[in-house]
Amino acid sequence: MTPQQLNQLIAAAQAVREKAYCPYSHYPVGAALLTKSGDIIDGCNVENAAFGDTICAERTAAVKAVSQGQKDFEAIAVVTENGGSPCGSCRQFLYEFAPDLLVILANGAGEIQMQVVLSELLPQGFGPSSLP
Ligand code: THU
Repeated sequence: MTPQQLNQLIAAAQAVREKAYCPYSHYPVGAALLTKSGDIIDGCNVENAAFGDTICAERTAAVKAVSQGQKDFEAIAVVTENGGSPCGSCRQFLYEFAPDLLVILANGAGEIQMQVVLSELLPQGFGPSSLP
């Protein structure tokens, strides 16, 4: 990933965060996936009055990407107010496609708070190769 791509990825996550539907938590999240072909696919969190049916930003982006035929991911930028880390469900969901995914966590101003590889966030994760 070039420095320019990194900036674009964070900017995309910041922009889509504006579209978050989060009337219950008031915690907007924006995510942007960089595919190995260089495309950026974004997503925001979408909450529901039945709270458990909420979909996180990371999974929105991943589902959009796969629906567009994109499954090879290099990095994801996640923007929250405080640089929050992906939830367990999102770690698992992304691990399916890219255990080596670079995860970039940034705050609302777009300042990077942490960069980590997904397999470090989900050690000994369960993935496609775990199935016999
Ligand atoms: N959220 C995400 O979008 N991604 C995460 O990884 C953590 C949590 C959302 C879900 C909910 O809409 C709000 O943040 C508060 O939990």
